[in-house]
Amino acid sequence: MAKLKWGMIGGGEGSQIGPAHRLGALADGQFELAAGALDHRADVGREYAQRLGITADRAYGDWQEMLASEKGRDDRIDLVTVATPNSTHFEITKSFLEAGFNVLCEKPMTMTVEEGEEIVKIAEATGKICAVNYCYSAYPMVRQARAMVRNGELGKVRVVVTNFSHGHHGDATDADNPRVRWRYDPAMAGVSGQFADCGIHALHMASFIANDEVKTLSADFASTIASRELEDDAMVNFRMEGGTVGRLWTSSVAIGRQHGFEIQVFGETAGLKWASEQPNQLIYTPVGGRTQIIEKGEGGLHADAQRLSRVAIAHPEGFPLAVANIYCDLADAIRGEVREGLPNAADGVRSMAAVHTAVASAKDGGVWMDARPSIFR
Ligand SMILES: NC(=O)c1ccc[n+]([C@@H]2O[C@H](COP(=O)([O-])OP(=O)(O)OC[C@H]3O[C@@H](n4cnc5c(N)ncnc54)[C@H](O)[C@@H]3O)[C@@H](O)[C@H]2O)c1
Repeated sequence: MAKLKWGMIGGGEGSQIGPAHRLGALADGQFELAAGALDHRADVGREYAQRLGITADRAYGDWQEMLASEKGRDDRIDLVTVATPNSTHFEITKSFLEAGFNVLCEKPMTMTVEEGEEIVKIAEATGKICAVNYCYSAYPMVRQARAMVRNGELGKVRVVVTNFSHGHHGDATDADNPRVRWRYDPAMAGVSGQFADCGIHALHMASFIANDEVKTLSADFASTIASRELEDDAMVNFRMEGGTVGRLWTSSVAIGRQHGFEIQVFGETAGLKWASEQPNQLIYTPVGGRTQIIEKGEGGLHADAQRLSRVAIAHPEGFPLAVANIYCDLADAIRGEVREGLPNAADGVRSMAAVHTAVASAKDGGVWMDARPSIFR
């Protein structure tokens, strides 16, 4: 099957989310990176695109140039990812949809509700895909939770409690750092800081698992660091169309919390808990019964969770990235820069010596033995 042609806007060198998109899109050999306008600096973007293997004629200086050129090609891209800062999402997404391209847009999709509604209508009218990168929803055990709710395994969901609270902007002495400051500046971030940045992942997750949509809400926003115009902490209570009660806390000043994205779903007959820092486990407690751990990759998962359990059972979701890091270090080594830490033949033979020594020791009543290969003694 021919590979799908993929283009990227934003996600240039040094960006936060660009590498995740490239790893994700290229992981299964289904897409090839064919075009890109990767950086707000035209020359930097063109140069980096070519280093990533994009041909010079498709390494664009800006997205307008990319749109104009790709529209006219027979081998035009099948999908474009929009991974630029928030304020640009609407215009780029709208323009590519209208030109007949499928789009994956980063969150938040737009800055205003009106813009968002326009995107929904354009996607409907053109019949093109407009996906939004709520990527946490694609963890296998999140899919398991969603399937369990839909299958009635919790009864009706009464309450969903979620939080996405970290402490990485909690240092008031770092509040003027430009990388932090823009997130709380309405001119750059829009109407909301932390809630629009992280809280929306939690809110999407609540709907995604509880199989219900937010109807009304009540929010309490705080800028706990006084120089911030937008909130860095928010508590949002919400009620859903189907009657589910929702509680959401999001914060960027919760010092001591790291990624801090968790969700608990409480139904009539059971409760579930999932946390992004332990994504392989879904904690399930039936009413009156014992708490159980449902593990990614185990037998009997719902089909969607099974389909997405692509890393072998007991291996964490980040496992393929560890393998990718080995290839990275290998590429550097082949090009002449041998990295400290690349496991090598010496490590291999030490392991074998240890195995053989262990076997011998076990046979000999556990006696202590020299486990070094002879070349290292
Ligand atoms: N889904 C998630 O979990 C997740 C995580 C992090 C970031 N994001 C989203 O991804 C987007 C980018 O965030 P980031 O943290 O990678 O930002 P970043 O500042 O690290 O990188 C932005 C990149 O876009 C480029 N860029 C800026 N304007 C451009 C333009 N007009 N045309 C082409 N390239 C342009 C920059 O040169 C840079 O390479 C944001 O909308 C953010 O909310 C989502």
